[in-house]
Amino acid sequence: MNLKDQIDVAKLPQHVAVIMDGNGRWAQLKGKDRVFGHKNGVNAVKETLKAASELGIKALTLYAFSTENWNRPKTEVDTLMKLLASSLKRELKTLQKNNIKLNAIGNLESLPLTAQKELLEVIEKTSGNTDFILTLALSYGSREEIVKAIQNISKKVVNNELTIEEINENVINNHLYTFSLPEVDLIIRTSGEKRISNFLLWQIAYSEFYFTETLWPDFKKDDFYRAIIEYQKRERRFGKTSDQIK
Ligand code: IPE
Ligand code: IPE
Ligand code: MG
Repeated sequence: MNLKDQIDVAKLPQHVAVIMDGNGRWAQLKGKDRVFGHKNGVNAVKETLKAASELGIKALTLYAFSTENWNRPKTEVDTLMKLLASSLKRELKTLQKNNIKLNAIGNLESLPLTAQKELLEVIEKTSGNTDFILTLALSYGSREEIVKAIQNISKKVVNNELTIEEINENVINNHLYTFSLPEVDLIIRTSGEKRISNFLLWQIAYSEFYFTETLWPDFKKDDFYRAIIEYQKRERRFGKTSDQIK
């Protein structure tokens, strides 16, 4: 049986997040520049998006650039930003055709203006699409996101729009960049690294983790299916006992 047929479509995760890692190593193994890895990483994005939407998953969030990634060499950062702008331009048609809405989380104002412009244009043009939501985490840092949430909540308290007693988990959720997204059921990291790297710290409180040695540019539909199959074997207990779940 092929991998796709092993998936129970009645038990899909609602929202999958991916830390796309290993582009640089993939290129270096081939004796190429790191940037060559990023260019090939775009294909893996397309494969993953297709695999997820064809299965019937509703939301995919991709970690594309972290607040810490600004500390990379300028030439690498510049290429990544150019790649972002050109990929957005090229993929708009596909997003429209497949009824996919684009969303972005992170400190978007820190992106170069051309990338910001492409991004906002695609977000705007796909805003009415309803089958699937693709979120790109760009200049994203979870600690920064939490700091901003605390600042905005504090402002509301100072302005008497909210009392301290009214602050609860929902209020915090609603002040994060991810306020409109469903719970992250599954988080995937490629390239063998086993860390979170400042991604979705609050949101993954009860997510399932899946790690693979595959480097991001090699990640194909079957790799995504493997992650979903593994996810479906897990028993999510949310603090209860196994007997209580059954
Ligand atoms: C992930 O691949 C892409 C970004 C972080 C932008 P890397 O560029 O981190 O690749 P490695 O980890 O150095 O191999
Ligand atoms: C995390 O990957 C960020 C993205 C995938 C965009 P990194 O390659 O930057 O992570 P660290 O620094 O090795 O943890
Ligand atoms: Mg990396």
